[in-house]
Amino acid sequence: MTAITSLAVLPEEMSLARALAAIAPHGVRTGCRLIRDGDETHLLPEEARSLPARQPAMRRASGAARWIAHRLLADIGIHDPIPRAPSGAPVWPDGMTGSLAHDDDMAVAALAEVGDIISLGIDVEPALPLPDDIFALVATSADRMDRSDLHLAGRLLFVAKEAVYKAVYPLDRQVLGYEDIAVDLDARRATTRIGRKLSLVYCTAPRIVVLAFVGGVEV
Ligand SMILES: CC(C)(COP(=O)(O)OP(=O)(O)OC[C@H]1O[C@@H](n2cnc3c(N)ncnc32)[C@H](O)[C@@H]1OP(=O)(O)O)[C@@H](O)C(=O)NCCC(=O)NCCS
Repeated sequence: MTAITSLAVLPEEMSLARALAAIAPHGVRTGCRLIRDGDETHLLPEEARSLPARQPAMRRASGAARWIAHRLLADIGIHDPIPRAPSGAPVWPDGMTGSLAHDDDMAVAALAEVGDIISLGIDVEPALPLPDDIFALVATSADRMDRSDLHLAGRLLFVAKEAVYKAVYPLDRQVLGYEDIAVDLDARRATTRIGRKLSLVYCTAPRIVVLAFVGGVEV
């Protein structure tokens, strides 16, 4: 699948773009961008108005993620803005589904035409172990990660649950906690408390990114 990075591509962007392209399910377009000074200027006026007053770093991150998404949309001839709904969810042009995420340094985006893929969620985090206190909040006895890289399994679980939440919120309009999502990293599946089933794909280098999706066919 198509993956894009910035125009002056930095090595970590190239590496992550390749990793995303390798995991993306059929029909899903992905991209990444290291967040740069001035990235808030990539917000279109409607997008800038839709974002709540926030710290400059957050606006930069939102601008970087939309920079990616604008290009992914432009590739298929769509030039619409992606404002933020009051719920926080991005509002995609008709017929499209997608998701945005950013950690302190990197922004990522994924989108697909609604069809086989019904909804998408993405999250990104540095490839570092999850602190024990956060792991205790995120993991439940319903989660399975026996065959995963133990060093990163906790972080992967955290990223997976956030990606699942972003994929299901637009469908179910329910605020979920970590305890409401059961993740099987080994089988690359997740189930929410109302029985919504998702597929997961992920990479762990150079960053952890999970794409969660409802519908679709994996590559
Ligand atoms: C959605 C949420 C998990 C995002 O987490 P985050 O670490 O703050 O931020 P990320 O960088 O990963 O993602 C931010 C993007 O998520 C997207 N997003 C926010 N709320 C969303 C929602 N309800 N549905 C889908 N996507 C959403 C937005 O595109 C946002 O980017 P933007 O601010 O530039 O528009 C968080 O904002 C939230 O709503 N949490 C409440 C529920 C929760 O935390 N449950 C436990 C996890 S399951």
